[in-house]
Amino acid sequence: MSEVKNLKYYIETWGCQMNEEDSEKLSGMLKRIGYTKTEAKEEASIILFNTCCVRENAENKVYGNLGLLKKLKKNNPDLVIGICGCMMQQKGMADKILKEFPYVDIIFGTHNSYKFPEYLNRVKTEGVQVKEIFDKETEIIEGIPVDRESSIKAFVTIMYGCNNFCTYCVVPYVRGRERSRRPEEIEKEIKELVAQGYKEITLLGQNVNSYGKGLEEEIDFAKLLRRINEIEGLERVRFMTSHPKDLTEDVIMAIKECDKLCEQIHLPVQSGSDEILKKMNRHYDREKYMSLIKKIKEEIPECSITTDIIVGFPGETEENFLDTLNLCKEVGYDSAFTFIYSRRNHTPADRMENQVPDDVKHERFNRLVDVINKGVINGNKVYEGRTVEVLVEGPSKNDETKLMGRTRNGRLVNFPGDSSMIGKLVNVHINRAQPFSLLGEIVE
Ligand code: 5AD
Ligand code: SF4
Repeated sequence: MSEVKNLKYYIETWGCQMNEEDSEKLSGMLKRIGYTKTEAKEEASIILFNTCCVRENAENKVYGNLGLLKKLKKNNPDLVIGICGCMMQQKGMADKILKEFPYVDIIFGTHNSYKFPEYLNRVKTEGVQVKEIFDKETEIIEGIPVDRESSIKAFVTIMYGCNNFCTYCVVPYVRGRERSRRPEEIEKEIKELVAQGYKEITLLGQNVNSYGKGLEEEIDFAKLLRRINEIEGLERVRFMTSHPKDLTEDVIMAIKECDKLCEQIHLPVQSGSDEILKKMNRHYDREKYMSLIKKIKEEIPECSITTDIIVGFPGETEENFLDTLNLCKEVGYDSAFTFIYSRRNHTPADRMENQVPDDVKHERFNRLVDVINKGVINGNKVYEGRTVEVLVEGPSKNDETKLMGRTRNGRLVNFPGDSSMIGKLVNVHINRAQPFSLLGEIVE
């Protein structure tokens, strides 16, 4: 495709880190053909929406935003509007979008985003509308340029898709089956990042603990972690997400023994009730989950544990919900993503009886958030008076005179300092714990 001059693009991303990473690739492809990024829709020649469909409100936001583009397209008929991501993989969605928002130029799904430059070329040279969605996943495409948001920390996807079919979740339908990247490709990408000055990487996958299945080489996730730990110049490694049914002792021991692996595990519990876990098709019970927590706390006392929880799953009784509440109290999570159950078309849970009324869901949600927040606040208090290692990420969000960074176990720390420290590891003495962050000062 020919180079373009002075043309700008705008990308909006909804959803998880996986989508963020896909957007960094879409951005990388656009930069490679000469476009520059803008944060203002009004000055863009291309507007791209990368969508999420995990919950209904994520979809509603996309409709609202697409509606607002009508006026922009009227004022500038050359504007190219593209829409992609998980929502487009749902049956009938692309046609629905084209019917309601006929001014959309390009529609593609999660499996063919590497073809975006080709679609754009067709729209621009032939003046056609392009809609292409692949039903099935393709081979992993390597070598797509990535335009990363940060110059200090980076996401590296190690596997795509999910085989678990939790009954509430659309991800396996829109992201396809599990495929692992070859370890050499992962190492190559990380080494290139280190050469560019990156200090921290987060390995991404829907279920990182089943990494390696189907590869020629005999490798599992723990072995991959140990190999990555050998990469010189890299400071910190994190990963997400771990499915409790697949988290092995080997992985826990790798975190304990490898200096670059940060003491942090994201271990979604979803519910504390055995009855609900079964209906969710999670393949573990409360006892198994709590035994993992015990093991992690015994082996790695500094480890922060975070989670995802859904309230109001079909059939959830007050008693089932209380099981979730007391599990949260018992674990004392360092942070949690809490969700109200959202009915998703074509998933088994959508067809289940006894859907929980909205007011009950909201009331339980508020009670859950209270319990989680109390745990987080207590967890932060423990850090008062301690000195912790912080990777400096940039200026603080709310106070330009301060810097912000994270501890190895993921806690947010604010402290005075100048921009020359950005990207460095510093020791910070914590003077005060705030509810959701720590305040301190650099010590030698
Ligand atoms: N409703 C509410 N939350 C959901 N999640 C996935 N599907 C749904 C749904 N239908 C949550 C799960 C998952 C996280 C990424 O999103 O907690 O771990
Ligand atoms: Fe969805 Fe379950 Fe797969 Fe996570 S493990 S992506 S919740 S199906």
